[in-house]
Parts: sequence; structure tokens; C-alpha cells
Amino acid sequence: MAKKHPVIICRCNDVTEEDIVNAIRQGFTDPEELKRLLRIGMGPCQGRTCIPLMLRIVARETGRHISELKVPTPRPPVIPVPIKVAKVGGQPFAEGQSH
Ligand code: FES
Repeated sequence: MAKKHPVIICRCNDVTEEDIVNAIRQGFTDPEELKRLLRIGMGPCQGRTCIPLMLRIVARETGRHISELKVPTPRPPVIPVPIKVAKVGGQPFAEGQSH
């Protein structure tokens, strides 16, 4: 019998469905806990596809409806921004400015 290939849920952080199911069976049934434990949704795409998939797995494995689950706290995308585009008091941040 051919070996079953792992089902990748979070491509950014290489998290499989088996990783999620194992964590749930160890008692990590809260999506926020799973996110922090397995780093699901913490990759460059910020969980656009893996968070909804993870929620479906949690719902399936715990017998809860997906609407009962709290969606993990979103984080703003991490994109390098030059400091000169930051604004201080409505004014653009000037180089050499102390705050
Ligand atoms: S696929 Fe999970 S953070 Fe990108």
C-alpha cells in the first residue's frame, strides 16, 4: 500500500493536517492556542487560506460548529516600510527627528 502524503494546511510554515489533529487530541482545541503552538497563520500570507482550513479541522475534530469558534487575532502584515513614511502628529517623520 502506498504511503499517504501529508496534507499541508499552512504552506508558509509547513504545518500539516496531522500536526493540527495531533495538537487537538493533546487538548489544544482553541484556534488561538493552535495558532501560537504551530505558527499557523504567522507566515508571509498571514493565514489567508490556512486559518479558515484550520478552523474547519477544529470544528470537525471537536464536534463544534465553525461559527462557535473564535477566529485567531489577526496581525497586520509585516512589510518593511521606510521610516520617512511614518507620520508624527499628522506630519511626516523627518530624518533626525527624535520621536
Ligand atoms: S499559509 Fe499559513 S501563514 Fe501562509
